[in-house]
Amino acid sequence: TKQKLWGGRFTGKTDPLMHAFNQSLDYDRRMYAADIRGSIAYAKSLTLVGILTKDEEAKIVEGLTAVKKEWESGQFRVQPDDEDIHTANERRLSELIGPLGGKLHTGRSRNDQVATDMRIWLLDQVDEIEASLVALIRVMVERADKEVDYLMPGYTHLQRAQPIRWSHLLLSHAFSFSSDLERLRQLMPRISVLPLGSGALAGNPFSVDRLYLAKELGFQSLAENSLWGVGDRDFVIEFMMWASLTTTHLSRMSEDFIIYSTAEFGFITLSDAYSTGSSIMPQKKNPDSLELLRGKSGRVFGNMAGFLVSYKGLPSTYNKDLQEDKEPLFDSADTVSSCLRIAEGVIGSLNVHPEKMRQALTMDVLATDLADYLVRKGVPFRETHHISGRAVALAESRKCQLNELTVADYKDLHAEFGDDVHEVFDFEASVERRQAIGGPSRAMISRQVAVLRERLSN
Ligand code: ARG
Repeated sequence: TKQKLWGGRFTGKTDPLMHAFNQSLDYDRRMYAADIRGSIAYAKSLTLVGILTKDEEAKIVEGLTAVKKEWESGQFRVQPDDEDIHTANERRLSELIGPLGGKLHTGRSRNDQVATDMRIWLLDQVDEIEASLVALIRVMVERADKEVDYLMPGYTHLQRAQPIRWSHLLLSHAFSFSSDLERLRQLMPRISVLPLGSGALAGNPFSVDRLYLAKELGFQSLAENSLWGVGDRDFVIEFMMWASLTTTHLSRMSEDFIIYSTAEFGFITLSDAYSTGSSIMPQKKNPDSLELLRGKSGRVFGNMAGFLVSYKGLPSTYNKDLQEDKEPLFDSADTVSSCLRIAEGVIGSLNVHPEKMRQALTMDVLATDLADYLVRKGVPFRETHHISGRAVALAESRKCQLNELTVADYKDLHAEFGDDVHEVFDFEASVERRQAIGGPSRAMISRQVAVLRERLSN
């Protein structure tokens, strides 16, 4: 007597391979709580239009609550014919409360049900992910604030360029994450659109109060078109795009720190908690956490690209291809969530070696400052750039540093060089001259810290 929920018009059996191919319960069971939340709200809305009595509603709600408890305690017994979380929950509900369970699906379709469940599930995830992202940014901001004294070379093309503060580098990554936070918050209203009451495609024939449903389920707005309500998965794509960009930022930051943790740089060492050893080379301490953070971006990007390809050719409304939205979405959410938490741990616990950063500051990174010195004496920058370049060449030919050239050497290069030229060769002073907004001076680091703290407090 076991019958599929849709078995009425069928006489033949499903091929077992087809059943396995078709089922999504293996992975969509994690939406069990969302599914039950949606069903409870829907049962209440059916009472309001007279499909259920108050008493029937109470029995259904009680039954659904019991089903939920079974999932929570690991006691839910999956049956061979269960196809997805929606059919499994309904099947179990009817086992528990009898034929009354069969009234719940009145006017509802798995099409509006699954779209609703996905949105409920994702909204919960987004809340958690938002909290992890905030925690990551906070750790970075606090570190930057504390370690403002540390000077290091800033790089372009991975070549030493100009002196900066370590804090400035950290904050540059924090600003990327701050944009990610803003984008994540902007996604929420577009996830929080309720499809329930769209039916299979053509709406609900029992006039359920969809505004009531939205309120019950905490949704900000309604799917205003039922065809769109069941067929739209833009929110899935958008979240995966968001996750792609966020993990890309994690990847780029990790790449910086992997380089800085090499013996050749030695600017930082990862804590033992986030490093691993080698099975053959006893001396090794590898930055596996950072390498995984860098690597994970690839799969998150792949999830997005894969589902976007499935999605692009679909005709209107629901098509089973849409079931392919789940695994990539779940994987992207899980991956970005663990990446954010790992990144917070890595950054919170890494050891910084300011003396190594300082050693990497060679005088040539002040060549721009040398040119700027002459600019302040009225020489056009294009000329001063050239003269400073000649000073670099001269020092190179003498195998010495820029500050080891004499005042006389400088005066030979240009008459405007004065006895004070050696004041240029001060890294701290160089960084402190950069007082324009966005620069690495102490005051501007404080400003960045304040800007980010303000954004986090919103
Ligand atoms: N498991 C399906 C999915 O994830 C649920 C919707 C099924 N609807 C249908 N008409 N077959 O998309």
